[in-house]
Amino acid sequence: MATRKRPASTTTTPGSIASVMQEDRRFPPSNEFASHAHIGSARALRALHDHAAQDVVAYWEEQARELAWFAPWKKPLVWKHPHAQWFVGGTTNVAMNCLDRHLGTWRRTKAALIWEGEPGDVRTLTYQQLHTEVCRAANVLEQLGVQRGDVVAIYMGMVPETVIAMLACARIGATHNVIFGGFSSDALRDRINDSSAKLLITQDGAWRRGETIPLKAAADVALKKTPSIRNVLVVQRTAEKCAMKSGRDHWWHLRLQAADARHEPPALPSEHPLFILYTSGSTGKPKGILHTTGGYLTQVASTTKMVFDLRDDDVYFCTADVGWITGHSYVVYGPLANGATILMYEGAPNWPESDRVWDLIERHHVSIFYTAPTAIRSFMKWGESWPRKHDLSSLRLLGTVGEPINPEAWMWYHDVIGGGRCPIVDTWWQTETGAIMISPVPGATVTKPGTATKPLPGISVDVVHADGTPCKANVGGLLVVTHPWPSMARTIVGDDERYRETYWGMFPKTRTSAGWYFTGDGARKDRDGYIWIIGRVDDVVNVSGHRLGTAEIESALVSHPMVAEAAVVARPDAIKGNALVAFVSLKTGARIKNLPALKQELRTHVGKEIGQIAKPDDVRFSESLPKTRSGKIMRRLLRELVSGAAVMGDMTTLEDFSVLEKLRSSDED
Ligand code: WT7
Repeated sequence: MATRKRPASTTTTPGSIASVMQEDRRFPPSNEFASHAHIGSARALRALHDHAAQDVVAYWEEQARELAWFAPWKKPLVWKHPHAQWFVGGTTNVAMNCLDRHLGTWRRTKAALIWEGEPGDVRTLTYQQLHTEVCRAANVLEQLGVQRGDVVAIYMGMVPETVIAMLACARIGATHNVIFGGFSSDALRDRINDSSAKLLITQDGAWRRGETIPLKAAADVALKKTPSIRNVLVVQRTAEKCAMKSGRDHWWHLRLQAADARHEPPALPSEHPLFILYTSGSTGKPKGILHTTGGYLTQVASTTKMVFDLRDDDVYFCTADVGWITGHSYVVYGPLANGATILMYEGAPNWPESDRVWDLIERHHVSIFYTAPTAIRSFMKWGESWPRKHDLSSLRLLGTVGEPINPEAWMWYHDVIGGGRCPIVDTWWQTETGAIMISPVPGATVTKPGTATKPLPGISVDVVHADGTPCKANVGGLLVVTHPWPSMARTIVGDDERYRETYWGMFPKTRTSAGWYFTGDGARKDRDGYIWIIGRVDDVVNVSGHRLGTAEIESALVSHPMVAEAAVVARPDAIKGNALVAFVSLKTGARIKNLPALKQELRTHVGKEIGQIAKPDDVRFSESLPKTRSGKIMRRLLRELVSGAAVMGDMTTLEDFSVLEKLRSSDED
C-alpha cells in the first residue's frame, strides 16, 4: 500500500468550494477479514451496486423483506416531491422486529444489552428479558393514557431504561422525542412544547465523572411551562432525593413492577411516525425531524448488517448518546433489529481513568467499535499508553461518524486501536438521512484515510455546482442526494414549508430536473469517485461531533440584557474539530466593569439557554459587527479572522471597514 502524501493541490472554479486535502494512502481489506465478510470482494459489491441500480425500489423491497411484516405493502414507494412514503399499505411494528421475532429463535437467551454504569455496575438483559421490560413499560404508558400517535418526551442518560422507554413507545405507536440529557431546562421545555408531548420520561439523576447530574430537577423547571405534559415517569438511578408531584409524577420501577409482562404489538402502518428528533439548522429554532416506521427500520437494519458486517458472535459498542440520531439508529434500532449484542456505557470515557473505553472493550470482548473523530482525537491526546495497557485483540472492525476524520487520527485509530488489522468504516450521514448513506463496505472497499468513500447500494449522491451542473473530479461543490431513500426524513414537525425550503429549495423540481435533496455539506469527488466531505456550507457548525446552529447560539446571546448583537463562528480546533467564537456588541449604555467576568457570564448564559455543549469557547467584544449593505453580518470575514487566515476576498459590500481592524485588535485582551 502506498504511504506517499502529496501536498495540497487546490482546485477551484468560481462559485465552488476550495478543497485542499490530498491523501494517497490506500488500505484494501485484508484477506483474513474479507474471507469471513458478508460482502467479501470488490466484485461482490459491484454486483450488488449494479443490481440495486437496475431497480432501486426493488432493491429496497428486498431489504424490507428481511423484516417481519403483519401485512405486506401494496406500493413500495409513493413519491410526491418532496415527500416520500415507503412500503405503503404494509403494516409492521418496530418493537416486534427488534424483540418478539427473536424470541422464537435461539436468540431468546442471547444478550441483547450489556450495560455498564459509570460506577462499574453491570446489567445484562437477554432478548427475553428486554422484551419483558418493554411489554411492562408499554402497558404502563397505556395505563397513563398514552395513545397511538401521542408524543412522549424522553430526557434521560445512557441507562437501559432509555432503550426500554424508546421501544415501549415504538411498540404502542407513540412517537418518541428523545432530548439529550445535556440540554438545559429551557431547551427541554422548547422541545416538549414544539412537539406537544403528553408524557415525559426522565430519571432522578445521571452519573457523570463521579458526580450526579440532577435530571429530574432540571425537568421540574421545564415542567413549569409545558402545558401539554400530563404525566411524568421517573426512573430511579442515583437514588438522590427528588421532588415528586403527586398526581403527575410516578416512579418507573413501582409502575413497572405492577404491570403485566405481556403486551401484543399492534400492526402499525409503515408510515406511522416513529420518532421526532430535534436538530440544529441555520435559524435560531431547532428542527423537529420526523422519521417513520417501515422505511426507517429497513434502511437502518440493512446498513447495520452491511457496514458493520454484523455477525451473531459480535459484541457491538457504539459510544453515541441516545440523545442523537446515531444513538437511535446504531445503538438501538439497527443492532436490535439484527439480533445483535449491544454494549452500552453510561458515563465519561475518562472516568475513573483515561482508559475506561479500552477497559470496557477488553472486559466485554468488544468486536465492533463505533465512535466519533473528536473522541479519537481526545484518545490521542491522552496518549497511547492507555490503550497499550489493554488487550484489544477482540476488535475486528472500527467505525467513525459525525465529522470528517483527519488522516492523522485515522492512522492512529488504525494502528494503535485496530492493531493494523481492523478495517475502518467512515460513515457519512445525517439526522435527516436517518441511516448511513456513504460508507465503505468493510470486506470489499479499499479505504483511504479521510473519506467515507462511496454511497452504499441503493443510494444515489452527486457533487454539483450551485447551478446543478456536476463538478469535475476533485472540484469542490455541494453534496446532493438524487433519489429518495427509505429512511429519509418525512418533514419538519409543524413546519413543512421549512422542510421544503431547507432541503429541496436549493435544487428544485423543474421541467428538466427531478429535484434533489441538498445535504448542507460541501464535498469533492476524487478520480476514483470517492467522496471527501469538506464541511457544512450553511451556518451549522460541528463541535465535538455535535451539530450546532450558530443562529441558535446567537439568539441565546442576544437574550442577555446587555447584548445588542452577536455573531458566532467556528475556528478550527485540534480536539473538537471546531471551537466556537462569539463576537458580541453590547447595548449602548451597558457599562462593563469587568470584561473577563462578563465573558464568563455570557458563556454561562448560553449554557443555561441551550446546554453545556453550546457554550462559546471564546467571547470577543466589539462596538459593531461587519455587515453588508443590506445589513447581513459577514460571517465569512469573522471566520477568516478567527482562523488566523488573512481576511481576503470581496469586501465591496462591507459597510464599515474599520470594524474589522477593531475586531482583530480586540484579540489581545
Ligand atoms: C452532519 C450531520 C450522522 C450522525 C452524526 C451527525 C457531518 C457526519 C460525517 C462523516 C464527514 C460527517 C456532516 C453532516 N458528518 N458524518 N463521516 N464525514 N462529515 O449527525 O448531527 O445530523 O450532523 O455531520 O456535516 O451533514 P448530524
